Amino acid sequence: MPLLSTKNLVKRFEGVHAVNKLSIAFEAGKITGIIGPNGSGKSTLINTLTGMIPADAGEIVIADSEHLRRVRAHEGPAFGMTRTFQDVKLFEQMPVLDNILVVLTERSVWKSLFEKHGAFHSEKAEEVLKKVGLWDKRNELAKNLSYGQRKLLEIARILAMIHSGAGDIDIIFLDEPFAGLFPEMIKIVTTVMKELRDQGKAVILVEHNIDLIREMSDHIYVLDSGELLAEGKPAEVLSRRDVVEAYLGE
Ligand SMILES: Nc1ncnc2c1ncn2[C@@H]1O[C@H](COP(=O)(O)OP(=O)(O)O)[C@@H](O)[C@H]1O
Ligand SMILES: [Mg+2]
Repeated sequence: MPLLSTKNLVKRFEGVHAVNKLSIAFEAGKITGIIGPNGSGKSTLINTLTGMIPADAGEIVIADSEHLRRVRAHEGPAFGMTRTFQDVKLFEQMPVLDNILVVLTERSVWKSLFEKHGAFHSEKAEEVLKKVGLWDKRNELAKNLSYGQRKLLEIARILAMIHSGAGDIDIIFLDEPFAGLFPEMIKIVTTVMKELRDQGKAVILVEHNIDLIREMSDHIYVLDSGELLAEGKPAEVLSRRDVVEAYLGE
């Protein structure tokens, strides 16, 4: 059974059908790729699934080991999921390390700065920052990081969130995590993604780089004008003429 699925999901913006009657599913232990031209509804889909914006119609179903939760379109499901943003969102005026500790300790920003952190939190913060290669930058303010380093910090925050015990996080959305990254940074992110998949997480990857989508995805959905154009295994889907044309026509 998929961890997360939608049935006829609709999200409109003043007449634009950003997501139009979309029925898709995300499996545990799989990386699902979502591709489509600019404006095809990829980010809007993630925003509605994570509850950032309400959907207009349709259904979102979240399954976990204990219950099947059916979510009506207007209530946003927020539990059990985490995501990165196409435009990175960090605590800009805080050091890199504090950006992680805030997430790990699950406290308010204010409290987490002034309370003592347990050894567990310090160890986990070190672990996730080393994993993404940012341990040496731990005292740097987030706003001073390079573009690629910001994206890596966002990945580290997702890992911290998973460690924090803030509800079991089973579903992870990555909205264009590779855009603007150097090859060695791409390698870090692909490694993290594969580890999350192998831990049984449902990993959802929105990405423009077709080579990376082909390499990483177990299953692909192709969106065009908010609708499902194609789905299937990367090799099949990416050789379809209508899929290629949707991209060339961009
Ligand atoms: N907050 C918003 N207000 C109005 N229109 C929006 C908003 N967000 C997205 N859209 C529109 O919805 C469509 C899908 O956008 P988006 O989901 O960002 O596409 P993608 O991520 O695939 O590039 C586009 O036509 C876009 O202009
Ligand atoms: Mg987008």
